[in-house]
Amino acid sequence: MNGNFVPRSDAVVSVEDRGFVFGDGVYEVVRVIRGRLFATRFHNERLERSLEGIRITLQGEDSPARFVDIGRQLLRENNLLEGEATLYIQVTRGATTRAHYFPPANTPPTVYISVARFAPNTELAERGASAITHPDLRWGRCDLKTLNLLPNVLASQTAKEQGAFEAMLIRDGVVTEGAKTNFFGVVDGTLRTHPCDTHILPGITRSVLRDLAAEINIDVDESPITVDEIPGLSELFLTGTTTDVMPIVQLDGRFVGDGKPGELTRKLQRVLAESLASGGD
Ligand code: PDD
Repeated sequence: MNGNFVPRSDAVVSVEDRGFVFGDGVYEVVRVIRGRLFATRFHNERLERSLEGIRITLQGEDSPARFVDIGRQLLRENNLLEGEATLYIQVTRGATTRAHYFPPANTPPTVYISVARFAPNTELAERGASAITHPDLRWGRCDLKTLNLLPNVLASQTAKEQGAFEAMLIRDGVVTEGAKTNFFGVVDGTLRTHPCDTHILPGITRSVLRDLAAEINIDVDESPITVDEIPGLSELFLTGTTTDVMPIVQLDGRFVGDGKPGELTRKLQRVLAESLASGGD
């Protein structure tokens, strides 16, 4: 927490912190398997982009790579080099008297880095999960990983209340992404996903999976799935740092395809699992 190593329960933030008051900050979640951090280069680049996108400048020697190094130390010192874990990095615009415009340039950003034990939901990944469709009520820069997650929170809660694993967000008649994941679907035999523009977060898992798919000659067509195409989906799955490839076998209470994880989904689930098991640094 701001350069100090403290127990999580002792980590404090000012009530005037802009993350607390405005959600004025950005974050990253990195997957850790047996002490190896997965795709850190991509996470670092995305954090850099998010910081630039909301105009936060890090101070002194601080950088995303340095935060990851601190994360490595936290993993070592908390006995998280075995099994699985996640690394969380959050940077806000710091603490000052409340005013909507930026604080003075010398206000240090608040930096919070933590690690936690993680257990992937392998049983659900085997069986397949359910999702609901939900209006995408977010702002125009969903490509930045900001702390402003209220529409995501509300969509997630609605999904939970309906017994679903995830909310699949719909904007202007197309599937954008999930509340905390990216979505892929098979339409007429073609694997489709929303292109990386300002309406989705460029997911690291999405990007890794697209490259892995290319290696086994599976093309990904980056044109969004339209609402009209949803009933004809033969397969549907989502991707994310804490979800891997998760088959979606029911959408809004109706089976997707034959109601079982599809062939393409299974293949991609396997290649990502192999990459997670062998990759990382
Ligand atoms: N969520 N889309 C949104 C809106 C997300 O919040 C996330 C990640 C993703 C998937 O991105 P990645 O593959 O880089 O995890 C897509 C993180 C895990 C979270 O908020 O906890």
